[in-house]
Amino acid sequence: MKNITYINNKFIQHSKAKISVEDRGFLFADSIYELISVFNKEIVDKEQHLKRLKSSLKKIKIKYKFNKEKLGKIISKLIKLNKIINGYVYIQITRGIAERKHEFPKNYQPTIVIFTKHLNINQKIYDKGVKIVTMPDLRWLRRDIKTTSLLPNILSKQFAVEKNAFESWLIDNGNITEGSASNAWIIKNSNTIITHPSNNKILKGVTRDTVIKLLKDNGFKIKEKPFNLIEAKNAKEAFLTSSTLSVLPVIKIDNYNISNGKPGDVTKKIMNLYNNYISKNKSILSKELKIA
Ligand code: PDD
Repeated sequence: MKNITYINNKFIQHSKAKISVEDRGFLFADSIYELISVFNKEIVDKEQHLKRLKSSLKKIKIKYKFNKEKLGKIISKLIKLNKIINGYVYIQITRGIAERKHEFPKNYQPTIVIFTKHLNINQKIYDKGVKIVTMPDLRWLRRDIKTTSLLPNILSKQFAVEKNAFESWLIDNGNITEGSASNAWIIKNSNTIITHPSNNKILKGVTRDTVIKLLKDNGFKIKEKPFNLIEAKNAKEAFLTSSTLSVLPVIKIDNYNISNGKPGDVTKKIMNLYNNYISKNKSILSKELKIA
């Protein structure tokens, strides 16, 4: 199957796309990225992702001639060329190639890579929910920047895998910030839905923001405030969000069952709301989730 990648103004075979060993993205993770989902050929929240890409470039001072329309066209072209139905578009911009010195090079040409990936939706995890483990949040204090410097995230995800869990929720100063690659949510017995406020301690997820908007528009009680491990373990329900996972129910946190070890009804309503939103009323999932 054809797999075309965009690299520095060229569309080429993915296997032929290469970067220099002196690229600062490779040497220092001096780079930022975005991942935009595609469901039923529709690009999900493109505007918001491109806005965050621009903001990440600004935050780490990469001088890149940002052109939203041009990027939009490249993304659409790749989705068409690579026949993406369900999958994602990955965009990475680095501070380019330069002699290995920590400070920014005086002149540089940023490297840009955009590729796509097909994804199959794993219905089982949505039907059954997933298990979470918790561990200390070992990351730096600018988690709002979507940088490719992801070593603590990788180690946290690996920790989860080794514990037969799906994701790690990270604890900073007693509070759960987010997951290794997703935002964390709980639903209290009062039905109030809680997620960490967007500040330097978490990545302001695009899915998170869309879900907040959908919840507000549909009369749910939602609070952006920190919550701790005890609150999480005593939650009525829990779930996580990300571009690749949408809304995914959580049924276990460490050894504590959440909502009797089954996806909760409020979570199912939120999943339906979000799935309807991304599929623009065409159901992407094989079946609508049944609410008891
Ligand atoms: N990760 N928090 C972290 C640390 C993340 O890496 C991600 C996304 C999110 C959710 O953000 P969004 O809703 O914008 O996808 C939260 C992507 C999917 C990744 O790195 O693969």
